[in-house]
Order: sequence, then structure tokens, then C-alpha cells
Amino acid sequence: MAEPLQLSLVNFRKGAYIIVEGKQDADYFYIIRSGQVRLARETSVVDDEGGDILGPGDFFGVVATMSRHSHIETAQALTDVSLIAVHRDNYHLLIERNTPVALKIIEKFSRQMRHLDRKLSQLTLKHTIEEYDLEHLFRVGEYYVRQNQYSIAYYAYYQYLKYAPQGRNVEQAKARMEKIKPYARPVFLEPAEGLTRTYPKDTMIFCENMPGEELFVIQKGSVRITKIVNDREVLLAVLKPGDIFGEMALLENKPRSASAIAHEDCTLLVVNKANFERMVSTQPQLIAKLTTLLAERIWFLYKQLANTLLANPVARLYDGMLIHLEKLRVSIRDGSAYTFDFGPRELVNMVGLPQEKGLRAFQEILSSKFIRVLDDRIVVSDVAELEKQAKSYRKIERIERARKGVKTQDAF
Ligand code: CMP
Repeated sequence: MAEPLQLSLVNFRKGAYIIVEGKQDADYFYIIRSGQVRLARETSVVDDEGGDILGPGDFFGVVATMSRHSHIETAQALTDVSLIAVHRDNYHLLIERNTPVALKIIEKFSRQMRHLDRKLSQLTLKHTIEEYDLEHLFRVGEYYVRQNQYSIAYYAYYQYLKYAPQGRNVEQAKARMEKIKPYARPVFLEPAEGLTRTYPKDTMIFCENMPGEELFVIQKGSVRITKIVNDREVLLAVLKPGDIFGEMALLENKPRSASAIAHEDCTLLVVNKANFERMVSTQPQLIAKLTTLLAERIWFLYKQLANTLLANPVARLYDGMLIHLEKLRVSIRDGSAYTFDFGPRELVNMVGLPQEKGLRAFQEILSSKFIRVLDDRIVVSDVAELEKQAKSYRKIERIERARKGVKTQDAF
């Protein structure tokens, strides 16, 4: 019988590469005991808080390891270093033995997500980043009234009046609420006691920019996470049973970074701050799950950001398809066929290209033999070929960037 894996100590000599960006075998992450490590990333828009030089108590490699994806950073020992290596499967041991480090990891993840999320909206949607503005609650209400989603609109107006009683649009919000009241069925306008809550389809659980002190675990049904940006609804994710959301406001004492809406009738477990702190020690598997979810989101956001740096629209589209395959863990090795559940238009939107320019670039891709469109879905007959193309475009751009010596901020 093999020994059960433990947290182990490892040493690296000055100059050694500990992890390498793009490498697939991310099974361990590291916490520094002594010495210094330098982190480097291909995508320069993602600055790490606290800089690139890490010291004792800092950790690295967690996103890739916990999300089971390829590494998104390179770490090199600047001095001789001693590290604690944590295998993914032993993460619960870390939570049990060193709760503060586990909390530090998820808190850092939460901040990182907020940062990446905002950066991405800025780059792809040309959306100027404003601090959390309570007037936005009113704008959310206005958007959903126009969509005839009265329960959602009513909820947003209600929160607007509650949190911005002196706001610019208070009178208008009151008038709108009066008008839509007969058609609206909002639930839990005020926080309620109780461990679980049930939300009917198309009701709002919380609205972006409002304060929030609870996180939710989906027990039944599904929830969509959305934002209203430039008067359009942007879908960030559809979450399923077992998924967790609303952790960012709870961990950072900040307003909600996005809205949560019942996508189907759903039952949610509600966790407040006091319960959360108790759960950290009594339910390590929940914290492990939260870390994994955050790691997956961060990994994807990082890849999307790296995508926006590609100057050539064809490169961006190839790369966009490849990161989707990676996200869905489609096996590339066997070179089999794959049908995406989206078409060219959605792909163009996802990578943040202007429609016309993006569709023209997609035409170019269609001239290659292994990609076509069927029933408005993109069909790839050989995923290995797609990977090859995407990687070679990435490489060309990397060389080009290095040649110009630019730290590209915006590649439009
Ligand atoms: P919070 O900011 O409290 O409220 C909105 C929640 O949506 C946020 O916590 C996360 O749980 C979740 N969320 C935010 N951005 C994303 C994203 N890009 N993908 C998936 N979930 C997200």
C-alpha cells in the first residue's frame, strides 16, 4: 500500500524553475517557507498584487492546481528556497491544519477575480470602470422593465430605494414600482431567517452593486450570474447544483460584483459570515470546493484576458475556441471531432471583437478544411489541428510583441 500523501517539504536551488506557464501537470501548489520566488506571466495586463517577488508565507501555482488546468504562471527560485508542496488531493489537510492559510488563499482569489473581471469588461466591452454606484440599481431596474421582467425589475428598484433613499431617480423608481406591482412577484426583498430559501424562476436573488453578507450553495435548480453593461445584459455564468456564489461580497465586505437570478426554480443554502467561519473548520470540503470553483473562474478569466491581447482577429478566434475546449476538458490528444454549443457570432462576441471584423476573420478560418458551421454551431473535425493553429498564432504574436518590446494594454 502506498503511504497516504502528506504535505511535504521540497527544496529548490537558486535559479531553478519550479513551475512553468502552460505546463499541464499541475498537481502541486507551493507555500514558501524560506527564500524568494519570482513569478512571471505571459499576459502583462494581469499584475499580481504585492508584486512579482514572493517570500515566506506566500503561495503560488494554486489556480492551475486546484482547477486541474495548465499553469498560468512561471515561478523561478531567486534564492535557494524551501517550500511546502500541497497535492491537490491533500488540500483538505491544509485547511484542517492551517485554516488561516486556506482563508488567505480564497480571500486572495476573490480579490483577483474582481480585478480580472473588471479588467476584462474594460478591454472587451470598452466599459469604463466606475466604483460601485448605487444609481446602477436603478439602471438595472430600467433594463428589466424594458424586457418585461417585472419581478426582477421590482427587486432592483426596491433595493435602490432602500440603499439610495436620496438618489437622483427615487421618484421615478417609486412611480415605476407602482405601475409594475400588479405583475411583479419578487421574493425575499429583505433578508430572511432560515438555512434554505426557494426562489421561483426569473426572480432576483441579489442585484449587482448592492451590499451583501451571504453566500449561497445551490441545492436544486440553476442560477445565472449577469451584469448590465452599457445597457446590455452580459451573461457571466449559469451555475448548477453544488456550485457556490456570492462569496466575493462576503469575503471582502464589498458590494455584489454581479447579479444573481433564478434561472430555474431553485433552492439555495444560505451561509452568513458567522456560519461561514464555523464551516471553515467543520466543513473543509466546502472550502475546498469554494477554492476549486474560484480557481476555475480565475483560470478562465486569465485565459480570456490573454486572448484580448492577441492583435490578429484570426488568432483571437482560434485561441477563443481552444480555451473553450480546455475549459470543458475536451481531450485533444486523440484529434477527434467536436461541436461547440455556440456559433460564429457568439464566438466573436465572446472574444470581444467588433461583429463585422470578427465575422470577416471567421470567414478566413472557414477556408481551412477542419472547421465548418452547421445549424449555427461551430464544428471542428480535428481538435488537435485546432490546437496546433491556435498555438502557432499565439507564438507568432508572442514573438511580435517581444520584437516590439511593448507591454500591450489594448490590442484593438
Ligand atoms: P459577489 O460579488 O458576492 O456577487 C456576485 C457573484 O457572482 C460573485 O460574488 C461570484 O460568486 C459570482 N461571479 C462574479 N463574477 C463571476 C464570473 N465571471 N463567473 C462566474 N461567477 C461570477
